[in-house]
Amino acid sequence: MLDNKTFFSEVVIESPGRINLIGEHIDYNGGFVLPAAIDKKITLSFRKNNSNTCEVLSSNFKSSFKVDLNNLVRSDVEWQNFVLGVLFHINVLKPASVKGFDCVIESNLPLGSGISSSAALECGIAEGVNELFDIGLTACEIIKLSRDAEHTFVGTKCGIMDQFAVVKGKKDHLILLNCETLDYELIKADFEPYVVVLLNSNVSHSLASSEYNVRRDECDTALVAIKKKHPNYHFLTEIPIKIVEEFKNVLPVKIYNRALYVTQENKRTLKAANCLKKKDLKGFGECLYKSHHGLQHLYEVSCKELDFLVAQTKALDFVVGSRMMGGGFGGCTINIVHKDKVGEFIETVSAAYEEKHAIKLSSIITTISDGVKKIEYGVSN
Ligand code: GLA
Repeated sequence: MLDNKTFFSEVVIESPGRINLIGEHIDYNGGFVLPAAIDKKITLSFRKNNSNTCEVLSSNFKSSFKVDLNNLVRSDVEWQNFVLGVLFHINVLKPASVKGFDCVIESNLPLGSGISSSAALECGIAEGVNELFDIGLTACEIIKLSRDAEHTFVGTKCGIMDQFAVVKGKKDHLILLNCETLDYELIKADFEPYVVVLLNSNVSHSLASSEYNVRRDECDTALVAIKKKHPNYHFLTEIPIKIVEEFKNVLPVKIYNRALYVTQENKRTLKAANCLKKKDLKGFGECLYKSHHGLQHLYEVSCKELDFLVAQTKALDFVVGSRMMGGGFGGCTINIVHKDKVGEFIETVSAAYEEKHAIKLSSIITTISDGVKKIEYGVSN
């Protein structure tokens, strides 16, 4: 097995997690999201091994695997599929470009907490292999093939937001991304005198992946039904709320609620971005609370632990906004908290959470950072 202590690397890549301020479950519906890369990251060290196999060690899982590059198939071990899927899709795009290599992965990104350790791993592998073998993949190719890897090898039909934020993240900026065109605008992440605090519920319900795909299907069902009357729309996010409302008694309640949430959340994301530009943090925070309300009641991807955490913040006048973040069914809430009250905030909410759910909360204070990058080249240890 590889040993991370004595590993001599030729290329070292840092690949960050991401937060998303607002625009949840919007990427695969072709609308606007507002993510950013963060300072918590995965570090991946690579070296060529002059063979036709690659060996990958995860220091966190204390496990490694070896794979023949001529036989890239799905594994029963989930984390391996993120790696295998990326190698498979690079091979589709640039046949025979990946040669044998060894890789050691170390991470300070908590898994299953909604800050996208999966996209960090996918994009980190893609970027590392791209550098090591000088393959010439563009940022856009890395983003798309990493997403495809998750579809085909992991089985989650995710959108493009996470991979985009991980690759294109820019220090101190949020990315207002149009997920249909991939056009984006960088917005200064100026929350002064507030800061972004993540509270990790430390629950990760097993529904997360299966229900994610169900939501995609439900959105497709809504779109197909609405298109029968309004054939010119291609994405739910394009459809005006008024038109969606015409279907209130036509669509099954659940399907109607999903479509309503999507159109509302897309509008809310644009509104929130404008609030931030005008430094209207109260308005921005209200959008976050409304987003959570929709995710809880209309889109139904929250859970009792996340709802509790968000509800707790409403009594605290030094918090302007809070909501669940990411795919849902566990993971983190994102909170906009006055910088002088962060300690009090964490203490108050942690105590209440532990009393109610008998689970310890963890907090993550994030800085908004650059996307995936090579940090070192040349032999070192
Ligand atoms: C996960 C997916 C993303 C996005 C979010 C929800 O993180 O990977 O593509 O859909 O959920 O906004």
